[in-house]
Amino acid sequence: MKRAFDIFLTLLFLPVWLPVLLLGMVAVLVTMGRPVFYVDRRAGKDGEVFAFRKLRTMKTGEGPDEVRLTRAGRIIRKLSIDELPQLFHVLSGKMSLVGPRPLPERYLPRYSEQERRRHLVRPGITGWAQVNGRNAISWERKFDLDGWYVDHQSMGLDLKILALTIFKAFDFSGIGHPGCATMPEFTGTEKTMRGKFITFEGGEGCGKSTQIKRLKAKLAARGIEVVLTREPGGTVLNERIRTLIKDQLEEAPVDKCELLLFLAARAQLVEKVVRPALEAGKWVVSDRFSDSTKAYQGYGRGMDLKSIELMNSFACGGLKPDLTLLLDLPEETAQARMRLREETTATHADRIEQAGNMFHRRLKAGFLEMQRAEPGRIKLVDASGTIEEVEREIWKSIAPIA
Ligand code: TMP
Repeated sequence: MKRAFDIFLTLLFLPVWLPVLLLGMVAVLVTMGRPVFYVDRRAGKDGEVFAFRKLRTMKTGEGPDEVRLTRAGRIIRKLSIDELPQLFHVLSGKMSLVGPRPLPERYLPRYSEQERRRHLVRPGITGWAQVNGRNAISWERKFDLDGWYVDHQSMGLDLKILALTIFKAFDFSGIGHPGCATMPEFTGTEKTMRGKFITFEGGEGCGKSTQIKRLKAKLAARGIEVVLTREPGGTVLNERIRTLIKDQLEEAPVDKCELLLFLAARAQLVEKVVRPALEAGKWVVSDRFSDSTKAYQGYGRGMDLKSIELMNSFACGGLKPDLTLLLDLPEETAQARMRLREETTATHADRIEQAGNMFHRRLKAGFLEMQRAEPGRIKLVDASGTIEEVEREIWKSIAPIA
């Protein structure tokens, strides 16, 4: 069905795209000379390699992409005319109109199991990652989006992606990766890590700390060495950053400052604690990690989600949790638990906890949206049961990997 749809649409619009392609070829020939096409060995469905063709937009030879990209090339790219030769790949069956972008053959050995799943379908001219940021997102995010597409593929989704592609063709914001004319080389994500990285997320009062302690005991009983940590915190420096963020000081940080403080602490934690432990084969269980930043500073405070993702990926050097447990509570239960905690421990809500009901509602909705977007990594746990019930539910996600 999809194949028939690909051929039908490509032939239907042939009178439109073929003349544009021919014009583009003439433009390349006149401004850059031969060869007109850029040919690259790319991995297709099931990792099968094919000779992928694009219109050439850069001068041949050595040097950084930004310098080799010509003026005509820039225009051809902006209008996406360089992609048109791939319509022949669609006709020949190497590609589809919609699918994960075909990437260079040399990347093949660098993918993790998860990332390799992008080859379960034919590669596409446009895809879910393309309409969600093109080159302006990290490789990790791109592969997540590709995985999501593979899991949710349908005719309706393809039509939506095609419609969004046409819409985005008039909005050129995502073409370049910040600081780069094109995407930087993908060098592979964490391959040497032997331990597992588990994170707990959720709104205030969801019972993370109790469950984390119980999980550590259970893993220890299986002979797994566990390093517990929390964010912000986990190192001497970070505990000081934690005070700066959480306490009601005479001067409150502005939103951007708050975001950067969380990221600064994360960079320190990843390098000093998380990576060394994982490389030594230990498991790391963290009370909050990058998803909190997206939920609190992104959905909660309303800061730009894509920028947060990029900065986050920079701070962590691309490290992502293997599994995230999102503890979810109805609003009233969470508030009641917070009140009880204040009364029994004589503590006051900190600066962020005091942010107001609307803020907490936005961040809860944000967490749930993130879970829906990455159901493979983020597991939703109903935290309203007894401690034992929640513990059992958490263990269902952990047991298969422990
Ligand atoms: P907690 O460890 O007591 O939950 O405190 C951390 C507080 O900081 C909590 O209110 C959530 C918030 N937070 C963010 O706003 N962004 C982040 O990136 C992280 C890690 C936490």
